Amino acid sequence: MSTVDWSKLSFGYIKTDYNIRSHYRDGKWSEPEAETSEYINLHMAATTLHYGQEVFEGLKAFRGKDGKVRIFRMHENALRLQSSCRGIKMAELPVEMFEKMVLQAVKKNEHFVPPYESGASLYIRPLMIGTSAQVGVKPSVEYTFIIFVTPVGPYFKAGFKPTPMVILREYDRAAPLGTGTYKVGGNYAASLVAGEKAHEMGYSAVLYLDAKEKKYIDECGPANFFAIKDNTYITPKSTSILPSITNKSLMQLAEDMGLKVERRPIPEEELETFEEAGACGTAAVISPILRIDDISENKSYVFSKDGEPGPISLKLYNQLRAIQYGDESDKYGWVTIVE
Ligand code: PLP
Ligand code: COI
Repeated sequence: MSTVDWSKLSFGYIKTDYNIRSHYRDGKWSEPEAETSEYINLHMAATTLHYGQEVFEGLKAFRGKDGKVRIFRMHENALRLQSSCRGIKMAELPVEMFEKMVLQAVKKNEHFVPPYESGASLYIRPLMIGTSAQVGVKPSVEYTFIIFVTPVGPYFKAGFKPTPMVILREYDRAAPLGTGTYKVGGNYAASLVAGEKAHEMGYSAVLYLDAKEKKYIDECGPANFFAIKDNTYITPKSTSILPSITNKSLMQLAEDMGLKVERRPIPEEELETFEEAGACGTAAVISPILRIDDISENKSYVFSKDGEPGPISLKLYNQLRAIQYGDESDKYGWVTIVE
Protein backbone atom coordinates (compact mmCIF):
# COMPACT_ATOMS: atom_id res chain seq x y z
CA MET A 1 0.00 0.00 0.00
CA SER A 2 1.10 3.55 -0.59
CA THR A 3 2.05 5.76 2.33
CA VAL A 4 2.05 9.08 0.54
CA ASP A 5 1.27 12.28 2.45
CA TRP A 6 -1.11 13.63 -0.19
CA SER A 7 -1.32 17.11 1.29
CA LYS A 8 2.44 17.64 0.99
CA LEU A 9 2.83 16.50 -2.61
CA SER A 10 4.71 18.73 -4.99
CA PHE A 11 5.11 18.14 -8.73
CA GLY A 12 7.73 15.40 -8.51
CA TYR A 13 8.36 11.74 -9.16
CA ILE A 14 7.19 9.09 -6.74
CA LYS A 15 7.60 5.45 -7.64
CA THR A 16 4.33 3.66 -8.32
CA ASP A 17 3.74 -0.06 -8.87
CA TYR A 18 3.56 -0.51 -12.64
CA ASN A 19 4.35 1.13 -15.94
CA ILE A 20 2.90 -0.04 -19.24
CA ARG A 21 5.07 -0.64 -22.30
CA SER A 22 4.77 -1.48 -25.96
CA HIS A 23 7.49 -1.86 -28.57
CA TYR A 24 7.35 -1.04 -32.26
CA ARG A 25 9.19 -3.51 -34.47
CA ASP A 26 8.74 -4.57 -38.11
CA GLY A 27 5.99 -1.98 -38.50
CA LYS A 28 3.86 -3.27 -35.58
CA TRP A 29 3.21 -2.33 -31.95
CA SER A 30 3.48 -5.21 -29.47
CA GLU A 31 0.71 -6.11 -27.03
CA PRO A 32 1.11 -3.72 -24.02
CA GLU A 33 2.72 -5.22 -20.95
CA ALA A 34 2.80 -4.09 -17.33
CA GLU A 35 6.33 -3.78 -15.92
CA THR A 36 7.53 -3.16 -12.41
CA SER A 37 11.03 -1.96 -13.32
CA GLU A 38 11.57 1.80 -13.55
CA TYR A 39 14.48 1.29 -15.94
CA ILE A 40 14.91 0.86 -19.68
CA ASN A 41 17.53 -1.33 -21.30
CA LEU A 42 18.69 0.86 -24.15
CA HIS A 43 21.33 0.59 -26.88
CA MET A 44 23.94 3.31 -26.56
CA ALA A 45 23.45 4.24 -30.23
CA ALA A 46 19.65 4.60 -29.91
CA THR A 47 18.40 7.61 -31.89
CA THR A 48 16.74 9.08 -28.82
CA LEU A 49 20.14 9.54 -27.16
CA HIS A 50 21.85 11.24 -30.09
CA TYR A 51 19.27 12.88 -32.28
CA GLY A 52 16.55 13.54 -29.75
CA GLN A 53 13.82 11.27 -31.09
CA GLU A 54 11.65 11.59 -28.00
CA VAL A 55 8.05 12.72 -27.60
CA PHE A 56 5.90 12.77 -24.49
CA GLU A 57 2.51 13.69 -23.13
CA GLY A 58 1.04 14.80 -19.82
CA LEU A 59 -2.48 14.22 -18.55
CA LYS A 60 -4.15 13.67 -15.21
CA ALA A 61 -6.56 11.39 -13.35
CA PHE A 62 -8.68 12.74 -10.50
CA ARG A 63 -10.60 11.02 -7.71
CA GLY A 64 -14.09 12.40 -7.21
CA LYS A 65 -16.23 12.78 -4.11
CA ASP A 66 -17.93 9.58 -5.24
CA GLY A 67 -14.59 7.74 -5.10
CA LYS A 68 -14.55 7.27 -8.88
CA VAL A 69 -11.43 8.02 -10.90
CA ARG A 70 -11.77 10.34 -13.90
CA ILE A 71 -9.22 10.89 -16.67
CA PHE A 72 -9.36 14.26 -18.38
CA ARG A 73 -9.44 14.46 -22.21
CA MET A 74 -7.16 11.52 -22.97
CA HIS A 75 -8.40 11.37 -26.56
CA GLU A 76 -6.89 14.81 -27.16
CA ASN A 77 -3.55 13.69 -25.73
CA ALA A 78 -3.60 10.63 -27.99
CA LEU A 79 -4.06 12.87 -31.03
CA ARG A 80 -1.39 15.33 -29.93
CA LEU A 81 1.07 12.48 -29.39
CA GLN A 82 0.46 11.38 -32.97
CA SER A 83 1.05 14.92 -34.19
CA SER A 84 4.34 15.10 -32.22
CA CYS A 85 5.38 11.73 -33.71
CA ARG A 86 4.73 13.01 -37.22
CA GLY A 87 6.66 16.16 -36.34
CA ILE A 88 9.91 14.31 -35.69
CA LYS A 89 9.41 11.25 -37.89
CA MET A 90 8.54 8.69 -35.26
CA ALA A 91 6.09 5.80 -35.52
CA GLU A 92 2.52 6.83 -34.62
CA LEU A 93 0.69 5.02 -31.88
CA PRO A 94 -2.98 4.22 -32.63
CA VAL A 95 -5.40 6.32 -30.54
CA GLU A 96 -7.23 3.24 -29.17
CA MET A 97 -3.97 1.77 -28.01
CA PHE A 98 -2.98 5.00 -26.25
CA GLU A 99 -6.34 5.09 -24.46
CA LYS A 100 -6.19 1.43 -23.50
CA MET A 101 -2.69 1.83 -22.07
CA VAL A 102 -3.60 4.99 -20.13
CA LEU A 103 -6.52 3.12 -18.54
CA GLN A 104 -4.30 0.17 -17.76
CA ALA A 105 -1.65 2.43 -16.16
CA VAL A 106 -4.25 4.12 -13.96
CA LYS A 107 -6.04 0.91 -12.97
CA LYS A 108 -2.81 -0.89 -12.11
CA ASN A 109 -1.81 1.98 -9.81
CA GLU A 110 -5.23 2.99 -8.59
CA HIS A 111 -4.26 3.35 -4.94
CA PHE A 112 -1.90 6.14 -6.00
CA VAL A 113 -4.77 8.32 -7.18
CA PRO A 114 -4.94 10.92 -4.40
CA PRO A 115 -8.17 11.30 -2.40
CA TYR A 116 -10.71 13.93 -3.44
CA GLU A 117 -10.13 16.21 -0.44
CA SER A 118 -6.37 16.48 -1.04
CA GLY A 119 -6.75 18.50 -4.25
CA ALA A 120 -3.85 16.43 -5.64
CA SER A 121 -4.08 14.21 -8.72
CA LEU A 122 -2.38 11.38 -10.56
CA TYR A 123 -0.11 12.68 -13.31
CA ILE A 124 0.11 10.37 -16.31
CA ARG A 125 3.28 10.59 -18.37
CA PRO A 126 3.34 8.75 -21.71
CA LEU A 127 6.63 8.88 -23.60
CA MET A 128 8.08 7.42 -26.77
CA ILE A 129 11.71 7.00 -27.77
CA GLY A 130 13.56 5.89 -30.90
CA THR A 131 15.54 2.79 -29.97
CA SER A 132 17.33 1.59 -33.15
CA ALA A 133 21.11 1.69 -33.05
CA GLN A 134 22.15 4.23 -35.66
CA VAL A 135 24.94 6.70 -36.19
CA GLY A 136 23.73 8.45 -39.33
CA VAL A 137 21.08 11.11 -38.84
CA LYS A 138 17.88 9.36 -39.82
CA PRO A 139 14.71 8.20 -38.11
CA SER A 140 14.76 5.07 -35.99
CA VAL A 141 12.95 1.98 -37.26
CA GLU A 142 12.14 0.74 -33.75
CA TYR A 143 10.41 2.55 -30.88
CA THR A 144 9.44 2.02 -27.27
CA PHE A 145 6.31 3.60 -25.81
CA ILE A 146 5.92 3.74 -22.03
CA ILE A 147 3.30 5.15 -19.69
CA PHE A 148 4.14 5.76 -16.07
CA VAL A 149 2.08 7.57 -13.45
CA THR A 150 2.97 9.51 -10.33
CA PRO A 151 0.82 11.38 -7.80
CA VAL A 152 1.37 15.14 -7.91
CA GLY A 153 0.48 18.39 -6.19
CA PRO A 154 0.84 21.90 -7.67
CA TYR A 155 3.44 22.56 -10.41
CA PHE A 156 4.25 26.05 -9.21
CA LYS A 157 4.90 25.98 -5.47
CA ALA A 158 2.40 28.77 -4.86
CA GLY A 159 -0.45 26.68 -6.36
CA PHE A 160 -3.39 28.91 -7.23
CA LYS A 161 -1.62 32.11 -6.13
CA PRO A 162 -0.33 34.73 -8.53
CA THR A 163 3.43 34.54 -9.15
CA PRO A 164 5.79 36.78 -11.14
CA MET A 165 7.07 35.79 -14.59
CA VAL A 166 9.84 37.23 -16.70
CA ILE A 167 10.68 38.03 -20.32
CA LEU A 168 14.32 37.17 -21.05
CA ARG A 169 14.90 38.50 -24.56
CA GLU A 170 18.24 36.74 -24.97
CA TYR A 171 16.62 33.27 -25.12
CA ASP A 172 14.19 31.54 -27.47
CA ARG A 173 12.38 28.27 -26.83
CA ALA A 174 11.29 27.37 -30.36
CA ALA A 175 11.53 28.75 -33.89
CA PRO A 176 8.45 29.81 -35.90
CA LEU A 177 8.72 26.81 -38.24
CA GLY A 178 10.51 24.57 -35.75
CA THR A 179 9.20 22.03 -33.26
CA GLY A 180 7.37 24.33 -30.82
CA THR A 181 3.96 22.86 -31.64
CA TYR A 182 5.16 19.34 -30.80
CA LYS A 183 5.73 17.94 -27.34
CA VAL A 184 9.32 16.85 -27.94
CA GLY A 185 12.08 16.65 -25.34
CA GLY A 186 14.33 19.02 -27.29
CA ASN A 187 12.00 21.97 -26.68
CA TYR A 188 12.36 21.49 -22.96
CA ALA A 189 16.15 21.13 -23.19
CA ALA A 190 16.12 24.44 -25.08
CA SER A 191 14.23 26.07 -22.21
CA LEU A 192 16.42 24.96 -19.31
CA VAL A 193 19.01 27.75 -19.23
CA ALA A 194 16.39 30.51 -19.36
CA GLY A 195 14.16 28.62 -16.91
CA GLU A 196 16.90 28.22 -14.32
CA LYS A 197 17.93 31.83 -14.73
CA ALA A 198 14.34 32.93 -14.12
CA HIS A 199 14.11 30.76 -10.98
CA GLU A 200 17.36 32.16 -9.62
CA MET A 201 15.93 35.62 -10.09
CA GLY A 202 12.79 34.69 -8.14
CA TYR A 203 10.40 34.21 -11.06
CA SER A 204 8.22 31.14 -11.46
CA ALA A 205 8.59 30.92 -15.27
CA VAL A 206 9.83 32.56 -18.45
CA LEU A 207 7.32 34.26 -20.69
CA TYR A 208 8.62 33.67 -24.21
CA LEU A 209 8.15 36.14 -27.03
CA ASP A 210 7.96 34.96 -30.64
CA ALA A 211 11.48 34.16 -31.79
CA LYS A 212 11.29 36.00 -35.12
CA GLU A 213 10.16 39.49 -34.23
CA LYS A 214 10.33 39.47 -30.42
CA LYS A 215 7.06 41.32 -30.56
CA TYR A 216 4.30 38.85 -29.71
CA ILE A 217 3.59 36.72 -26.64
CA ASP A 218 4.27 33.00 -27.19
CA GLU A 219 3.91 30.94 -24.00
CA CYS A 220 4.95 30.66 -20.36
CA GLY A 221 7.57 27.95 -19.82
CA PRO A 222 5.57 24.72 -19.64
CA ALA A 223 2.17 26.33 -20.11
CA ASN A 224 0.11 28.49 -22.48
CA PHE A 225 -0.64 32.15 -21.78
CA PHE A 226 -4.10 33.68 -21.48
CA ALA A 227 -5.41 37.05 -20.42
CA ILE A 228 -8.72 38.67 -19.60
CA LYS A 229 -9.90 42.11 -20.64
CA ASP A 230 -13.31 43.65 -21.37
CA ASN A 231 -15.09 40.36 -20.71
CA THR A 232 -12.85 38.65 -23.30
CA TYR A 233 -10.57 35.61 -22.97
CA ILE A 234 -7.50 36.27 -25.11
CA THR A 235 -4.80 33.72 -25.92
CA PRO A 236 -1.93 33.73 -28.44
CA LYS A 237 -2.09 32.27 -31.92
CA SER A 238 1.44 31.28 -32.83
CA THR A 239 3.28 28.65 -34.86
CA SER A 240 5.79 28.04 -32.07
CA ILE A 241 3.60 27.12 -29.08
CA LEU A 242 2.17 23.82 -27.92
CA PRO A 243 -1.59 23.52 -28.55
CA SER A 244 -2.62 23.20 -24.90
CA ILE A 245 -5.58 20.97 -24.12
CA THR A 246 -6.22 22.94 -20.93
CA ASN A 247 -6.31 26.17 -22.93
CA LYS A 248 -8.71 24.61 -25.45
CA SER A 249 -10.95 23.59 -22.53
CA LEU A 250 -10.77 27.04 -20.92
CA MET A 251 -11.74 28.68 -24.22
CA GLN A 252 -14.91 26.57 -24.20
CA LEU A 253 -15.63 27.30 -20.53
CA ALA A 254 -15.02 31.03 -21.08
CA GLU A 255 -17.50 31.00 -23.93
CA ASP A 256 -20.02 29.16 -21.75
CA MET A 257 -19.63 31.90 -19.12
CA GLY A 258 -20.53 34.52 -21.71
CA LEU A 259 -17.01 35.75 -22.41
CA LYS A 260 -15.81 36.49 -25.91
CA VAL A 261 -12.87 34.33 -26.94
CA GLU A 262 -10.03 35.62 -29.10
CA ARG A 263 -7.12 33.50 -30.33
CA ARG A 264 -4.76 35.86 -32.10
CA PRO A 265 -1.26 37.33 -31.99
CA ILE A 266 -0.82 39.37 -28.80
CA PRO A 267 1.73 42.18 -29.06
CA GLU A 268 3.70 42.72 -25.86
CA GLU A 269 2.39 46.30 -25.44
CA GLU A 270 -1.09 44.89 -25.04
CA LEU A 271 -0.04 43.41 -21.68
CA GLU A 272 -0.59 46.89 -20.25
CA THR A 273 -4.29 46.64 -20.98
CA PHE A 274 -5.03 43.22 -19.43
CA GLU A 275 -7.07 42.96 -16.25
CA GLU A 276 -5.93 39.39 -15.48
CA ALA A 277 -3.30 37.06 -16.90
CA GLY A 278 -2.44 33.45 -16.29
CA ALA A 279 -0.51 30.38 -17.38
CA CYS A 280 -2.52 27.25 -18.13
CA GLY A 281 -1.66 23.61 -18.64
CA THR A 282 -2.12 20.12 -17.25
CA ALA A 283 0.62 20.61 -14.66
CA ALA A 284 0.03 24.34 -14.15
CA VAL A 285 -3.81 24.06 -14.19
CA ILE A 286 -4.34 27.84 -14.01
CA SER A 287 -1.41 29.63 -12.45
CA PRO A 288 -2.33 33.30 -12.21
CA ILE A 289 0.39 35.80 -13.10
CA LEU A 290 1.19 38.49 -10.55
CA ARG A 291 3.47 40.58 -12.74
CA ILE A 292 5.55 40.27 -15.90
CA ASP A 293 8.94 41.97 -15.98
CA ASP A 294 10.59 42.63 -19.33
CA ILE A 295 14.02 43.02 -17.82
CA SER A 296 16.13 44.34 -20.68
CA GLU A 297 13.42 46.84 -21.67
CA ASN A 298 12.96 47.95 -18.09
CA LYS A 299 9.21 47.37 -18.26
CA SER A 300 6.83 45.81 -15.79
CA TYR A 301 3.19 44.81 -16.22
CA VAL A 302 1.12 44.17 -13.09
CA PHE A 303 -1.99 41.97 -13.12
CA SER A 304 -2.73 41.49 -9.45
CA LYS A 305 -2.45 44.44 -7.09
CA ASP A 306 -3.60 42.56 -3.98
CA GLY A 307 -1.69 39.32 -4.65
CA GLU A 308 -4.94 37.42 -5.28
CA PRO A 309 -6.21 35.76 -8.48
CA GLY A 310 -8.63 37.83 -10.58
CA PRO A 311 -12.36 36.97 -10.47
CA ILE A 312 -12.57 35.46 -13.97
CA SER A 313 -9.44 33.35 -13.52
CA LEU A 314 -10.94 32.11 -10.27
CA LYS A 315 -14.24 31.25 -11.93
CA LEU A 316 -12.50 29.43 -14.79
CA TYR A 317 -10.28 27.55 -12.35
CA ASN A 318 -13.23 26.43 -10.24
CA GLN A 319 -15.22 25.36 -13.27
CA LEU A 320 -12.35 23.37 -14.78
CA ARG A 321 -11.56 21.65 -11.48
CA ALA A 322 -15.25 20.88 -10.93
CA ILE A 323 -15.42 19.03 -14.24
CA GLN A 324 -12.14 17.22 -13.61
CA TYR A 325 -13.17 16.04 -10.13
CA GLY A 326 -16.70 15.18 -11.24
CA ASP A 327 -18.46 17.88 -9.18
CA GLU A 328 -19.94 19.37 -12.32
CA SER A 329 -21.63 17.47 -15.14
CA ASP A 330 -19.37 16.50 -18.01
CA LYS A 331 -21.44 18.01 -20.77
CA TYR A 332 -18.73 17.85 -23.43
CA GLY A 333 -17.64 14.26 -22.76
CA TRP A 334 -14.17 15.33 -21.63
CA VAL A 335 -13.95 12.80 -18.85
CA THR A 336 -13.37 9.04 -18.96
CA ILE A 337 -14.46 7.25 -15.80
CA VAL A 338 -12.16 4.38 -14.89
CA GLU A 339 -14.40 1.36 -14.37
N1 PLP B 1 2.92 24.54 -23.36
C1 PLP B 1 3.95 23.74 -23.05
C2 PLP B 1 5.29 24.08 -23.58
C3 PLP B 1 3.74 22.60 -22.24
O1 PLP B 1 4.75 21.81 -21.90
C4 PLP B 1 2.43 22.32 -21.79
C5 PLP B 1 2.18 21.12 -21.00
O2 PLP B 1 1.76 20.14 -21.48
C6 PLP B 1 1.39 23.19 -22.14
C7 PLP B 1 1.68 24.29 -22.92
C8 PLP B 1 0.00 22.94 -21.70
O3 PLP B 1 -0.61 21.93 -22.45
P1 PLP B 1 -1.75 21.03 -21.83
O4 PLP B 1 -2.80 21.95 -21.37
O5 PLP B 1 -2.20 20.17 -22.94
O6 PLP B 1 -1.14 20.28 -20.72
C1 COI C 1 2.19 19.19 -18.53
O1 COI C 1 1.54 20.16 -18.16
O2 COI C 1 1.69 18.07 -18.66
C2 COI C 1 3.58 19.31 -18.87
O3 COI C 1 4.05 18.48 -19.58
C3 COI C 1 4.33 20.42 -18.32
C4 COI C 1 5.72 20.09 -17.83
C5 COI C 1 5.74 19.25 -16.61
C6 COI C 1 6.63 19.63 -18.92
